[in-house]
Amino acid sequence: MALEVDRAEGSYIYDYRGKGYLDFISGISVSIVGHRHPVVHRAVTEQLDRYWHTMVYGEHVQHPQVRLATLLHEFLGPSFDQVYFANSGAEAIEGAMKLVKKVSGRTRLVSFRNAYHGGTQGALSILGSEMYRSPYRPLLPETYLLDYNDEGCLDFLDERVAGVFVEAVQAEAGALPADPGWLKALEARCRQFGIALVFDEIQTGLGRCGTWFGFQHDGIVPDVVVMAKGLGGGLPIGAFAASSSMMQHLAEDPPLGHLTTFGGNPVCAAAAVAVVEVIRDQGLAARAMMAHEIIAGRVKEWSLESGFPIHLSGRGLLLGLELEIDPMKAREWISRCWQAGLLVDWFLFNEGRLRLAPPLNISEGELHDAIDILRKAHG
Ligand SMILES: Cc1ncc(COP(=O)(O)O)c(C=O)c1O
Repeated sequence: MALEVDRAEGSYIYDYRGKGYLDFISGISVSIVGHRHPVVHRAVTEQLDRYWHTMVYGEHVQHPQVRLATLLHEFLGPSFDQVYFANSGAEAIEGAMKLVKKVSGRTRLVSFRNAYHGGTQGALSILGSEMYRSPYRPLLPETYLLDYNDEGCLDFLDERVAGVFVEAVQAEAGALPADPGWLKALEARCRQFGIALVFDEIQTGLGRCGTWFGFQHDGIVPDVVVMAKGLGGGLPIGAFAASSSMMQHLAEDPPLGHLTTFGGNPVCAAAAVAVVEVIRDQGLAARAMMAHEIIAGRVKEWSLESGFPIHLSGRGLLLGLELEIDPMKAREWISRCWQAGLLVDWFLFNEGRLRLAPPLNISEGELHDAIDILRKAHG
């Protein structure tokens, strides 16, 4: 893309020539309340004026972390009374992998084909694509991939499995939602064999899919929830949340069983508090659903008028748009959108499908502008 970024504001990124690009990627679901939201900006500058880093490993009580954990607990549900802060999605996934092994004393980890969980060695070991994993073998042993939305595969889950890592909407597969019946069956199987059910909410969480977290759409209660990306609204922070009885296993035998120097950095945590408060105060989860309806309506109209089928996948504002099965043609279409001032891209494991993941507070006018550009650029 080679976009030389000069500045970013709201739903727009500007290059050095002053050209504005409507951002329908959001840095891959990161700029969830838009770029440089004034409330987040104020929270960050106020924290910069207080302290940036003091001491880690829980030695110092830092109010931005406490406030953030309290807010997340409120929106995750009563069983999530402890939160561990990390610096990124992959790092939070690593922590969750360690946690479920330590709690159960079991070694097997299960995840699903076409799921992306991060680029570190552990996260890569449960990533659902052999193409991305094979150059880095040997990876972690005893990691197993099953087919998403396939109930038959669930027989594999038994008392040898420590944890199952799943997304409510498989983001990089092309915004593919889980079948509610399948998720319920997965949850029941995990309960039956005492397997920790871990939801990777790194893309789906914080209102993007119309509920605070994707698992809430289907009434599932996971054991561990992992988040990052949108949490800091553009500042790097990740987290995994669980019950304190589970988390206690990381605090003993050995003590300090999981460490990070910068995790929950107070400036990033202050930004995250502001992001969560903006999502709450402006009802952005509900707005994501309203925006979804507008996009779905425009896509339906487009399909009727053009006479060819257009597939819109996903939930809320984590959407995939498919007109071209051929990835090369999709790439050309994406390039024409960039030239016309709309940033869209493809999915890692579904290159023929366009990602639509704008900030949740995008205006109605901007939504219509984006669809107009998509239509014109497709021709
Ligand atoms: C679903 C999901 N999980 C985990 C990750 C890893 O997050 P990070 O890139 O912050 O390490 C990503 C990143 O794209 C993701 O989409």
